[in-house]
Amino acid sequence: MDTDRVRVAPSLLSADFADLASEIKRVEEAGVDLLHIDVMDGHFVPNITFGPMMVGAIKRLASSDLDVHLMISEPHRYLDRFVEAGSDYVTFHVEAVGEAGPLLEEARALGARPGVAVNPATGLEGLDDVLAACDLVVMMTVNPGFGGQAFMREVVPKIRALYDLRAERGWEFEIEVDGGVNAETAEVAAWAGCDILVAGAAVFKSGDPGRAVREIARAGLRGLGKRGDTSAFPLAPPG
Ligand code: DX5
Ligand code: ZN
Repeated sequence: MDTDRVRVAPSLLSADFADLASEIKRVEEAGVDLLHIDVMDGHFVPNITFGPMMVGAIKRLASSDLDVHLMISEPHRYLDRFVEAGSDYVTFHVEAVGEAGPLLEEARALGARPGVAVNPATGLEGLDDVLAACDLVVMMTVNPGFGGQAFMREVVPKIRALYDLRAERGWEFEIEVDGGVNAETAEVAAWAGCDILVAGAAVFKSGDPGRAVREIARAGLRGLGKRGDTSAFPLAPPG
């Protein structure tokens, strides 16, 4: 499924937690309708962030859909609580589970749009059944754990491969790129095939979150416009 725009989902990880209401308002006024929430458990990744109660509080503040990215071990233990708290999309890491299928089913049965996140070093081989059951696939362009890291350009060929595979197989999930997205890197990410650009530091550390959202969206549109030109960006072999 190809779209005519690339959505920007600001990651609240880099927002001012003491004034989340204003931070959310700023990006929603710039046209955002999806907020990315990074859940970290201090185990699957070295950092700790939000739990389901926080997702519930954000749900009350936001008019956007919530895209909840679980960077946690044993996601099956908490999935229901995160969905009940107000996740519209919920993703967990393929690296964190033995079998993703039952969890995707559970999340869908609870009323969320389920998906998986894939680390930079994880290949797409052997994931066909999992991908077929997803509404959203998050391609990590940083190693998860922290905001503000640099975009890993070597993941771009994998994003394009996923985009091509989706067309080939007739799958309908959305592709999200997460990590190091800014007004420069958004272009190549969108060109490679993503529908949603997550951006944390580039939005909330910019001094003008609304303007940053608009700039990233514009860069995304430029990339989308070049998508048919397969040589617009050099595709290095996956590193
Ligand atoms: C990384 C998180 C990302 C992160 C993106 O562990 O999953 O969502 O917040 O932040 P930036 O855009 O700052 O890389
Ligand atoms: Zn994330």
